[in-house]
Amino acid sequence: MSASRFEPVRLEHASRLINHGPTVLVTSAHGGRRNVMAAAWSMPVEFTPPRVAVVIDKTTFTRELARASGGFGLCLPGLALADLTYSVGQHSGRGGDKFERYGIQAVQGPVLGMPLIEQGCAAWLECRLIPERHTEDAYDTCFAEVVAAAADPRIFANGHWLFDEDNTELQTIHHLGAGLFVRSAGAVQARAL
Ligand SMILES: Cc1cc2nc3c(=O)[nH]c(=O)nc-3n(C[C@H](O)[C@H](O)[C@H](O)COP(=O)(O)O)c2cc1C
Repeated sequence: MSASRFEPVRLEHASRLINHGPTVLVTSAHGGRRNVMAAAWSMPVEFTPPRVAVVIDKTTFTRELARASGGFGLCLPGLALADLTYSVGQHSGRGGDKFERYGIQAVQGPVLGMPLIEQGCAAWLECRLIPERHTEDAYDTCFAEVVAAAADPRIFANGHWLFDEDNTELQTIHHLGAGLFVRSAGAVQARAL
């Protein structure tokens, strides 16, 4: 594992990292195995402590590892990782380690030890799965508490996103379907009327 180059994000600002609905890379590990998949569906759901909802199909290897370890990571790929994001969402890690296959470097999450991706990513959130026994078999949606977060200060600093022409490659991506993405750009500061 490499050392983190990101700067910590205060937990009260963690929801801002996924407020705009970026596609995320869900990372997981348990018993010497690790994995990463793409997820277009995630959102903040609670303020304090910060909690998130992520749709992780019950049949995925990610779900199996997350359930076994009690946690997962949400990493926000930048534009430069569009191909990687699409690729890790095309096949299961049960057949082989996707980190190795795609040459992905990971840093270790500070609280749960989850593998987290920084190279090419704008930010990550380390999340503790909230066990929901009555819904576990019925739904793909998982709820989790954010226990740590960090971001590349070139694009997220002091609790705010900075989208500009110098950080295009780090700008988050949004899945439109079938491998087509748009990047987050063109920020507008609204004023109360
Ligand atoms: C762009 C993209 C977005 C996706 N979004 C989701 C999602 O929100 N939830 C989900 O369960 N699967 C989603 N998938 C599919 C999973 O990434 C896919 O099933 C993956 O192969 C699971 O890998 P695993 O078995 O190694 O965990 C998405 C795939 C792509 C390419």
